[in-house]
Amino acid sequence: MTALRDIAPASTELQTAFNWRENARAFDVRPFLKQPAQITPHYATELGALFSGDCMNVLPQLQEGIADTVFADPPFNIGKEYGSNTNDQQPDERYLEWCQQWLAECIRVLKPGGALFVYNLPKWNVPLGYYLMQQGMEFRHWIAIEISACLPIPKRLHPSHYSLLYYTKGSPKTFRRIRTPIQICRHCGGEVKDYGGHRDAMNPDGVTLKDVWTDIPPVRHWKFKSKNRKCNALSTKLLDRVVEMSTVPGDLVIDPFGGSGTTYAVCEEKHRHWIGSEIDFAEDIAERLQGGHIRSHKSDDWVEPLPQQHT
Ligand SMILES: C[S@@+](CC[C@H](N)C(=O)[O-])C[C@H]1O[C@@H](n2cnc3c(N)ncnc32)[C@H](O)[C@@H]1O
Repeated sequence: MTALRDIAPASTELQTAFNWRENARAFDVRPFLKQPAQITPHYATELGALFSGDCMNVLPQLQEGIADTVFADPPFNIGKEYGSNTNDQQPDERYLEWCQQWLAECIRVLKPGGALFVYNLPKWNVPLGYYLMQQGMEFRHWIAIEISACLPIPKRLHPSHYSLLYYTKGSPKTFRRIRTPIQICRHCGGEVKDYGGHRDAMNPDGVTLKDVWTDIPPVRHWKFKSKNRKCNALSTKLLDRVVEMSTVPGDLVIDPFGGSGTTYAVCEEKHRHWIGSEIDFAEDIAERLQGGHIRSHKSDDWVEPLPQQHT
């Protein structure tokens, strides 16, 4: 892990004390800022920079057209307890208005052809997808991420997926094909499907990744999340896919809702640059990146080889 030392305690105010001279090897985020003197990171590694504070104080400070991919996993407005600075229970209109504000910034900071992923409940991703279309973004996929831990709701179907919207700013600049292994029965070791009699014609590297992901594990065990478990965490397997599919090493990924820093940890592992913000848990993220003690979920994905200039 390439983490450098963290600079100051977490705060909702943007830090102003980052010492660039003491952190000469840190990723220099200043060329990506409109007014570098206005905001400084809370923490940095050789590959990325994390701001402690509201993403709506950070995103507008970023230059236009800098990101290859933006990944956003905001609070879902379901009354969940995050840190003291998040109100996860707002009137629907206000929540959607807020989402549109940060989405507009996400679109602005994307390069032409850059990818935008938004993870949320289907209920919110319906209007947010429509908003993205209105902003001229190109629809790629509605990815259904199967979840197991949801309780049944009276008079409804049993909710069993979250939605991951995948849009690009014009036609995609990077799309690397991913394949998943041919499914094997856990008990008998035989193949689960017969592929309609076309098994011989199957690609030995696996089947093209579908837009329904049933193999993303929940993050429950302490090994896979921050020690004090206050912040939410997605599986590294989900972020592995997002990052591999839409970027190459050296690209820049922005995630405005840091949580426990899963996106940044995956970027570190895969040698992507990253810029992030987190309103309550910046210190936990710094700890995670510094300690390198949180395990990744195993991924069996096959990823299309990199174009020659990146190998
Ligand atoms: C669902 S979690 C993200 C989890 C993250 N994807 C991960 O896997 O580690 C959402 C996070 O956004 C943070 N947050 C909420 N409002 C924010 C804001 N306005 N700016 C920055 N972060 C915010 C919350 O504190 C919470 O940690």
